[in-house]
Amino acid sequence: MHFSEEERPIAIQIYGSQPETMAEAARIVEEVGADVCDINMGCPANKVLKGCAGAALMRDIDLAERIIAAVRSAISIPLTVKFRLGFNDKERNFLELGRVCEANGVQAVSMHGRTAKQMFRGEADWSEIARLKEELSIPVIGNGDVREPGDALRMLAETGCDGVMIGRGATKNPWIFRQIAARMSGGRVPEPTLEDRRDLILGHFQMVAQRDPDKIALHKLRKFTGWYTHGLPHGRKLRQQINQLPDVESFFRALESFFDELEVGRAA
Ligand SMILES: Cc1cc2nc3c(=O)[nH]c(=O)nc-3n(C[C@H](O)[C@H](O)[C@H](O)COP(=O)(O)O)c2cc1C
Repeated sequence: MHFSEEERPIAIQIYGSQPETMAEAARIVEEVGADVCDINMGCPANKVLKGCAGAALMRDIDLAERIIAAVRSAISIPLTVKFRLGFNDKERNFLELGRVCEANGVQAVSMHGRTAKQMFRGEADWSEIARLKEELSIPVIGNGDVREPGDALRMLAETGCDGVMIGRGATKNPWIFRQIAARMSGGRVPEPTLEDRRDLILGHFQMVAQRDPDKIALHKLRKFTGWYTHGLPHGRKLRQQINQLPDVESFFRALESFFDELEVGRAA
């Protein structure tokens, strides 16, 4: 729950299956100064489902409602709920859960247009986001498969949703938000330069390395490098190389020489 002021407005998400515990968690979220508390009712990971949390709550709307009501009355900041189409294709009950959210004072909902069973397979079904938007009066945030700036504009136009949430697209291209903003105001879409990439990656990694113990930092850095270097020349070689590196220091050296070589290659 660490964040910096420049990240505001910031939402912190909680997940769980016990109304009282969730209410307590939400109070902590409010205390640390988050602007919004979000409840996760969409996570399809087995370890979360086993505890009857995340998307498992879509199969128990009564419990979902008790959680929402308990959390809503525990805090005064806005509350949002994130969910999927349903648990599986036969149980697409997002309209029901959406109505429960609205009836219990939730300020906005976001929906990923896949079922939990689908995980990340197939395509997100945006037409169901449009149905949810028609059904509810609270704001609906659409989610799923926004990879390029143009996808965000298309989702807004096709579904009528009030906002767009971006997951994987932002981990590969953290500039996607300013690119969308530029498109929306009719401006040019700024392409990140090699220097922008270098600054962002090293800046992010320095923050991680300062805060986390070496082993945890190294694990995170490997994960982020995988995302950030997609589509860069020799990105795969770097990804293979960093899996062998023993510590954060050697990781930074490898990354810096990767960018130095890219710059030399570009100049040549
Ligand atoms: C590595 C990873 C971690 C995620 N963690 C969360 C999470 O903690 N809470 C959540 O609501 N969704 C989580 N999601 C799901 C995304 O928020 C989003 O719903 C999903 O990736 C579909 O959107 P996208 O096509 O823009 O990626 C995660 C997705 C990925 C790939």
